[in-house]
Amino acid sequence: MQESNRMKRLPKYLFTIIDGLKAEAKATGIDIIDLGMGNPDQPTPKHIIDELCARVKDPENHGYSRTIDNVEVEFRQAISGWYKSKFNVDLDSESEVLPLIGSKEGIAHISLAILNNDDMALVPNPAYPVHFNGVLIAGGILHNMPVSEENNYLPDLDAVPEDVIEKAKLMFLCYPSNPTCAVAPRSFLAKAVAFARKHEIILVHDLAYSDLAFDGYEAISILQIPGAKNVCVEFHSLSKSYNMAGWRVGLAVGNAEVLASLSKTKGYIDFGMFKPVQYAAIKALTGPQDCVTKQVAIYKKRRDFMIDALEEAGWKIPKPKATFYLWAKIPDKYSALTSVEFTALLIREVGVVVSPGAGFGDNGEGFVRFALVENIDKLREAAKRIKKVLNMKA
Ligand SMILES: Cc1ncc(COP(=O)(O)O)c(C=O)c1O
Repeated sequence: MQESNRMKRLPKYLFTIIDGLKAEAKATGIDIIDLGMGNPDQPTPKHIIDELCARVKDPENHGYSRTIDNVEVEFRQAISGWYKSKFNVDLDSESEVLPLIGSKEGIAHISLAILNNDDMALVPNPAYPVHFNGVLIAGGILHNMPVSEENNYLPDLDAVPEDVIEKAKLMFLCYPSNPTCAVAPRSFLAKAVAFARKHEIILVHDLAYSDLAFDGYEAISILQIPGAKNVCVEFHSLSKSYNMAGWRVGLAVGNAEVLASLSKTKGYIDFGMFKPVQYAAIKALTGPQDCVTKQVAIYKKRRDFMIDALEEAGWKIPKPKATFYLWAKIPDKYSALTSVEFTALLIREVGVVVSPGAGFGDNGEGFVRFALVENIDKLREAAKRIKKVLNMKA
């Protein structure tokens, strides 16, 4: 068996590395506390589940979903209404909205839709892996834009070389950011839109975490920036806002031409979403939103608890304004270890799983990411165990 060169270009997938480490630890009988993957632990709200259950009983909903089906038309309208109410962004539900089988597939497929072999894509490093892996799968060339504490995790667009700009067709941004938890000021997003317009680059913004914002912070849709629709598409997801990660519901909005191309690409590959899932997604977007508020309160409590507990354990981590992650510099005592080695140490010694920063790109080296997807009791236990590692003889 010879895998394609395309697949050989991909770095080993982050969660595959962690799963291997976890399986090894489990085999030794260690109890695992998994703060690795950003997989929400809370159930999907009941009214959404009820809608799915009711719709699944109707045989009319068992066939392929077609763009002209009522449910898909309704779902597009629900997305457009949701964007209007959340961000005051007007979207034409036919041409400026595209439902996705989870935003991840859309993000991967957009590179396939837009990039020719050897076209360039500008991607921050570190980034959510599909932002760069999608480019590699499509045969594109990555231009890494380093982000770090020094630049507030905002790429320096003025530093992108002219010859790269000439070949660049796509640029990816994600704020609030996975994995760095950074948020972007409106001025930066406006600069990015202006840059994309000037150089005729399609700007892809990933807004998956807009709802998980704390302390009065309100995430910004890139489509709020005047002129953004000329060059931007934005991806969003129901996975985090409504605890629907396994349901696979996402969406893309924005530039109609780009979305038409993405839709065309998908048309050759998939048959859309299961209709009952679309009905349930409509319920999520148009139904009561107090479930989101409650969820945000849970993550805020966990964030505050874990920051304090880790500080007490001797590990000071910045408090993020958004996302359900903590982006943590590896403590000095272990700074000689790579992020994968440090992650392996935590898993092997105390069964606490985090994500190594290097899995998000080389610039993530020196950091690990905590996903706050366990309850406070588990977080308390995780912090206690981590304290043990921090007090161990290095
Ligand atoms: C930044 C970001 N974008 C997209 C996704 C994928 O979400 P979905 O479940 O909609 O595919 C994730 C999932 O963790 C994410 O962190």
